[in-house]
Amino acid sequence: MVSGSTLSLSLSLYLSFFSLFSQSDDKVSLEVYYESLCPDSANFIVNYLPQIFEKNLISIVDLKLYPWGNTKLRPNATFVCQHGAYECLLDTVEACAIDIWPELSKHFTFIYCIEDLVHQHKYKEWESCFEKLDLDPEPINQCYTSEYGKKLELQYAAETDALQPPHKFVPWVVVNGEPLYDDIENFISYICEAYKGSEAPQSCAQVSNVRQVKAKPKHSVCNMEREMSTWEKVRSTITSWMHQINLGGAI
Ligand SMILES: *[C@@H]1O[C@H](CO)[C@@H](O)[C@H](O)[C@H]1NC(C)=O
Repeated sequence: MVSGSTLSLSLSLYLSFFSLFSQSDDKVSLEVYYESLCPDSANFIVNYLPQIFEKNLISIVDLKLYPWGNTKLRPNATFVCQHGAYECLLDTVEACAIDIWPELSKHFTFIYCIEDLVHQHKYKEWESCFEKLDLDPEPINQCYTSEYGKKLELQYAAETDALQPPHKFVPWVVVNGEPLYDDIENFISYICEAYKGSEAPQSCAQVSNVRQVKAKPKHSVCNMEREMSTWEKVRSTITSWMHQINLGGAI
């Protein structure tokens, strides 16, 4: 029999552990469920998602990518991708990248590079991203051609399937567990609203205002940003962000 004091001691230990944990981690979770060859997914990854780096929001965001989307799982554990076999290949390549380079700046830059090629209808040149980014292709090649790559994809299948409410289309963007439905272009303001910590970046004040005004039609903003946003620019933003973080850690 468990005595009352033992029970309350374990409970208070548990609670203090829990509050310690939640206090130190008030980052906003940002989940992006997508499939590699869907034009809207590529558009979101290339033209919108980099804003978390550009607007310096990455310090308050925990970004997770789920490369599976509307892929169908057959009973014999093979899968059928919406945009054909090449999509299955690139989804697996991107799943492998997340696994092999868990550091966000590294796998995101690689996935960005591929999705930028998708955006330009040149995705068959995806292997050029290794050279562009000076990354070793070998671990990725070993992963996506093996059962391991497939296993990673099956994990994303299970996580996508477990979504509540279930996803209706891709990209499906979820902020702290709440789907944004078709308002994904305003994802920054949802992040800022969801953030309850004390270190809100200055850019949050600006985006909240923009959202209240809703000044511009969505798609012209998108087109304008496309002109300027090359992968080079994103890469340099990420590099400077990493540099800042490293400097911060050294002090
Ligand atoms: C899996 O099932 C599909 C039909 O549902 C079939 O075409 C395919 O060959 C099967 N693959 C394997 C590896 O059994």
